[in-house]
Amino acid sequence: MSRSKRKLEHINYAISTGQKRTHGLDDISFVHNSLPGIALQDVSLRTKIGELSISSPIFINAMTGGGGEKTEKINALLAEVAKICDLPIAVGSQMAAIKDISQSRSFEIVRKVHKNGIVFANIGSEASVEQAQKAVDMIDANALQIHLNVIQELVMPEGDRDFTGVLNRIEAIVNKLTVPVIVKEVGFGMSKQTVSKLKGIGVSIVDVGGFGGTNFATVENQRRSKQLEQFNDWGIPTSVSIGEAKASSPSISILASGGIQTSSEIAKAVSLGASAVGVAGYFLKILLEDGQEALINEIQHMQDGLKIIMTALGTKSVNELQNAPIVIRGETLSWFEQRAIN
Ligand code: FNR
Repeated sequence: MSRSKRKLEHINYAISTGQKRTHGLDDISFVHNSLPGIALQDVSLRTKIGELSISSPIFINAMTGGGGEKTEKINALLAEVAKICDLPIAVGSQMAAIKDISQSRSFEIVRKVHKNGIVFANIGSEASVEQAQKAVDMIDANALQIHLNVIQELVMPEGDRDFTGVLNRIEAIVNKLTVPVIVKEVGFGMSKQTVSKLKGIGVSIVDVGGFGGTNFATVENQRRSKQLEQFNDWGIPTSVSIGEAKASSPSISILASGGIQTSSEIAKAVSLGASAVGVAGYFLKILLEDGQEALINEIQHMQDGLKIIMTALGTKSVNELQNAPIVIRGETLSWFEQRAIN
């Protein structure tokens, strides 16, 4: 099967499979504050991804890789949304276009539309320094995402089976590129050991890509005649993975993703230590089922909702929200206790 046909199948499966929403963020409660002492107009959503300043803690995460007209169209629509809502946007894996330059149009369109915005390039951990540089140059990216997707590869019949040398390759890319490198998971989460290893080679931004949203084990399993069902519920929930990342290194910039759909979930992810959240499957579903305007409305609704939550808590900034008092229970607490995270 061609790469672009596989990518279109991903979109269809990811959307039809839906999200189980077992991201663990429901285990978090804010401690109500009867005396917040601030006004809505005092609240600023401005935050940072590493050194990049962004106007609200939301970005459109990597989705449509591969070439082809349909991906180009989706990327153009998403880039317009990013421009209108002033959000960073990540493109999907550029590997196909690095190998076959005729496919680069569906990525270049993102920079063309979101001319002065923040755009992230995207490649897999098999990439060389030269390929990483090409991905960044193709769209004049402000940062490079490198995705880790071991389980997805193992469930794909045609996927990789060799995961050696990954840290060395990422280290070489971090050392050589002038833009920041964001290492991301794709829905299986990161442990504190993983984050420590990444920190050790100079990575300063991680996107935990936790379990509980789009599930690539389920997506890939639907394409197999004999399923690898053991991976359908495999992964570290988003809530836990934020805690794991924070426990590994208080100085690393943490991005949270994996099933995030509401302002309340954004606020909870931030309260656990994230500085911004990425949304992929949920935004794509709204775009394809309800259209571009519906997606813009939804993002504005999320931003407004977040401001209201921050007003209730008396937190004027994302940084203050990161320090808001919370109570943690259920599965997330159980993970934290057994993994010595506090
Ligand atoms: C993805 N994702 C992804 N990630 C990546 O780094 N490179 C890629 O090419 C893709 N492709 C892709 C296609 C589609 C259709 C979806 C839905 C997702 C993964 C994505 O960035 C994110 O990590 C996960 O989807 C988890 O977030 P959500 O979907 O639960 O918000």
